[in-house]
Amino acid sequence: MRINKYIAHAGVASRRKAEELIKKGLVTINGQLVTELATMVKSGDVVEVSGSPIYNEEKVYYLLNKPRGVISSVSDDKGRQTVIDLLPQVKERIYPVGRLDWDTTGLLILTNDGDFTDKMIHPRNEIDKVYVARVKGLATKENLRPLTRGVVIDGKKTKPARYTIIKVDREKNRSVVELVIHEGRNHQVKKMFESVGLLVDKLSRTRFGTLDLTGLRPGDYRRLNKKEISQLHNAAINKIK
Ligand code: URA
Repeated sequence: MRINKYIAHAGVASRRKAEELIKKGLVTINGQLVTELATMVKSGDVVEVSGSPIYNEEKVYYLLNKPRGVISSVSDDKGRQTVIDLLPQVKERIYPVGRLDWDTTGLLILTNDGDFTDKMIHPRNEIDKVYVARVKGLATKENLRPLTRGVVIDGKKTKPARYTIIKVDREKNRSVVELVIHEGRNHQVKKMFESVGLLVDKLSRTRFGTLDLTGLRPGDYRRLNKKEISQLHNAAINKIK
């Protein structure tokens, strides 16, 4: 198996990130530095990344209803609670598929499958990520329309999004809006609303492709079954091999 695929299979990094690790000189096979991206790994080879051996474990997939106040990383140098801490029984080295902010709640997939992760998060695969945002201000078709065409955040235009106005509370001067996007840029939903003059004060991800949170309370998690995993693969319109 090609070295970058082997690293992705081991759940250490996506294939593209694995190539970066190789270019940075962090990957060895049987103690020899890997310099060629096309290098093949044979059975019995010992692959190390940054001096630590990596292993190909069984692929596992979990669905978590992330509560507020938890960070979407594998570890935290400030000792804050991470999403990994919420799945103490899981022995495999899983990590989140994309990120939710510390204060964002809702649907998060965790896996040790790097290729699956790539496919789920690549915008060209157009997997729906559905968010429900409570925003300060009154949402109208007029102020939300730019989101359907794309707005510039951090110097780059977002891909067209869909929205549904769920509630407008004139008395409290706030609204609830569902937004469907295919990307996963940093603080994307908050920044998109901000760009049309609406500040997000509560955010939750309610759906990811074919998955929703039915039956899972905040902090709960469960393993995804084969059917759910293949449905997610099928939701990707452009399959990255
Ligand atoms: N967009 C955000 O702004 N925050 C999230 O957590 C997810 C999407």
